[in-house]
Amino acid sequence: MTEPLSGARLAQPDWITESLALGLAEPGHEPLQRRLYRLLRGGIQLGRLPGGSALPASRALASALGIGRNTVLAAYDQLLAEGFLETRHGAGTFVAHHALGQVQQAARPATASSLSQRGLRLVEQSRGPIGESGAFVPCVPALDEFPREIWQGLLQRHQRQAPSHWLNYQDGGGLPALREALCDYLQLSRSVRCQPEQILIVNGTKQAFDLIANLLTDPGDTAWIEEPGYRGAQASVLNAGLNVVPVPVDAEGMNPALAPPGPAPRLIYTTPSHQLPTGVTMSLSRRLALLAQAEAQQSWIIEDDYDSEFRYTSQPVAALQGLAESERVLYLGTFSKVLYPGLRLGYLVLPPALVEPFRTAQARRYPEGHYPLQAALAEFISAGHFARHIRRMRELYRARQHCLRDSLAPALDQGLQLSPGESGMHLVAWLPPDSDEEALVDIGDRHGVILRPLGRHYLGAERQRGLVLGYAGVPETEIRHAGSLLAGWLTPLLKES
Ligand SMILES: Cc1ncc(COP(=O)(O)O)c(C=O)c1O
Repeated sequence: MTEPLSGARLAQPDWITESLALGLAEPGHEPLQRRLYRLLRGGIQLGRLPGGSALPASRALASALGIGRNTVLAAYDQLLAEGFLETRHGAGTFVAHHALGQVQQAARPATASSLSQRGLRLVEQSRGPIGESGAFVPCVPALDEFPREIWQGLLQRHQRQAPSHWLNYQDGGGLPALREALCDYLQLSRSVRCQPEQILIVNGTKQAFDLIANLLTDPGDTAWIEEPGYRGAQASVLNAGLNVVPVPVDAEGMNPALAPPGPAPRLIYTTPSHQLPTGVTMSLSRRLALLAQAEAQQSWIIEDDYDSEFRYTSQPVAALQGLAESERVLYLGTFSKVLYPGLRLGYLVLPPALVEPFRTAQARRYPEGHYPLQAALAEFISAGHFARHIRRMRELYRARQHCLRDSLAPALDQGLQLSPGESGMHLVAWLPPDSDEEALVDIGDRHGVILRPLGRHYLGAERQRGLVLGYAGVPETEIRHAGSLLAGWLTPLLKES
């Protein structure tokens, strides 16, 4: 609603014309009507043209500015349509009274205090670099070894052949051909018990965590998580508002006997094949105990099998899921390590009873797409490229791990302990208890060596000191150079301890 004009408070038409003339005299590439529109809108937003101000008649303004009347009318029309101006029959065009208030509200800058508590936590947990590479960034595969030509050919063909219904929303839980190819691979290589229908293709592990937390827990439910553990999983369960209980990892893996007394967990997150970050493989007795406990407490186990393909001393260890008579394990895999992280594809093998609700929720919450990409991946697997790439990378990573050990020889001579490295893409260098991990990180930074402290993987205050050293994505020359620098920084620490 408009209010009567209140004289002195309002901008005078002459003043408006002068300031518009000055504004239009500035150099600019946009069409005149757009520039005029911006100048008027800016004047309203800044309060120079308060609500109720009368604008000059279009003909008068056009002649005063030396521009066409249609240009002025077009600018006025745009501002009228957006609610900045209003016309009064027979009286002319005015700045709308509500315009400034609306704009000021909309323009109030969002500050960190605008975020919810959950939002603040999410942002805090998400800080830190992403997409780094080089010595010794953990969890990055050898990106330049990926067979891009083969991949490109498959992508192009499947893109070309894509039926038009693939352009629509999908609700199948992933392309059937990919679920079938994966099912064969998982049964054969990971001893996972599954049918293609149980597989849900997800946009990476974190999406699977979100689905699991949303569908199987309510805020306040308890989740057990390995300590030290994977930061991505920690962030997901914390952000879901769960009561997160860190459960210590010992030489046999996550040890439920060391869990503090409290409510039975609804979720248990574990990386049994290759614990992240310690590298421990969960023993068979511990696996059976964990399964029995989950059954007794009606907990869901999330088995994150993120990099078990790279096992150097024996065949990959069979998945926990394959041992279970019960249906309490959700098996999670990712292509981020075996292929490349930018692919953003992972999978969740669900107990049969959970398939329908998970598929339904996924289809609405995270509608699927990228079926040509999934088709290319299905063929990459079924044509044998996947297995070949894994074999090649296993040999390459084995050699790179040797190279890292060799380059750390001076520190090993001083008693440096490294994790066994039976599998995976990183080693842990254990440091004396009073070592300052962050000081080492700073030294590394100054020399272009990226060091990840073990301490960042703990939720609780009791922490072992160490460094997580990724080697898979680092060429040997770089490993040798950065490794000898690191050995030089560690040797005095080890001598002192
Ligand atoms: C333990 C663990 N699980 C899963 C992933 C992969 O997550 P995503 O599939 O979202 O890339 C990582 C990546 O570093 C990881 O360390």
